[in-house]
Amino acid sequence: MKSIPWRTQGGISFRQPTKGSGMGVHGGPLRLGTITDSHVAGIGAADTYFNNRVHLGLSRALLTEALSWLTPRVDALLLLGDLTQSATPEEFRFVLDELDATELPCFVVPGNHDCPAPTDDGLLAGHLKGRERIRIPGKEPLGPALLTAGHLTRTAGGEYHNRLENPAPARLPVLLTHFPVLDLRPAIKDRGWQYAGDLTNRAELEKQLRAWPEPVLVLHGHLHTRAHAVAGNVLQLGMGALAEAPHDVALVSIDASPRGLRVTRECHQVLEVAPGTRPAVLSPESSSFTFTGRTWLSEVG
Ligand SMILES: [Fe+2]
Repeated sequence: MKSIPWRTQGGISFRQPTKGSGMGVHGGPLRLGTITDSHVAGIGAADTYFNNRVHLGLSRALLTEALSWLTPRVDALLLLGDLTQSATPEEFRFVLDELDATELPCFVVPGNHDCPAPTDDGLLAGHLKGRERIRIPGKEPLGPALLTAGHLTRTAGGEYHNRLENPAPARLPVLLTHFPVLDLRPAIKDRGWQYAGDLTNRAELEKQLRAWPEPVLVLHGHLHTRAHAVAGNVLQLGMGALAEAPHDVALVSIDASPRGLRVTRECHQVLEVAPGTRPAVLSPESSSFTFTGRTWLSEVG
């Protein structure tokens, strides 16, 4: 990380792009650009604190910077929830206008901040009307992947539940979800970080995915922690938050060739981590996973 140059703009130190990995945007592996927990807030919003400072005051600049870094490098963009801080129409409009401006296909799922009340299940979907480029994936074929999201609902008791149909596995099912499916609570709590909570049906979803006869990839946010986990046929990549350190975006590449199935993740920190910050990071910036026929083998870079 010491060799990475930084660019200062308006008093903010943004990380400079590193050289591309050599993978083309068109042809070859599918390149997905992921962002989670952007927490785009109202102008002038005061920062909050989770494990570290949540930069609500910079949230708009961070999203703009994240998209400008990812856009030339990917085939599609994925936003894994907590797009907004308070689910106001203006916050949604800012996020969705920024996504529209990329002119890329964009797939989004709501997080708890985007769905703050039991009646808000369809809030994000409502804001997508008339925006053809941006959608919540139902069963969306994209190259070797089949993107899916399930249906997130908030219970009257303030908990969250995701109902998921089994996709026909003609392609690699990729579940976009704000909440994790494999259990990361012990790993995160053991390191002294706060745990943001699970779906009420997390264990049930894990069982459902592990019963699928094919490999599956889960991409999630919510925990504000860069992490990964493997359980049988399920590979789960937890994305670091944008608004809080590590200020990650990630390139997820899916290469399905006759040689086999390989998933790689390369993270890029958009904002320099402030001194004294201990980012919630359990996985390295670069990693790759190969499906062996039964499970995923990790080659951590
Ligand atoms: Fe969040």
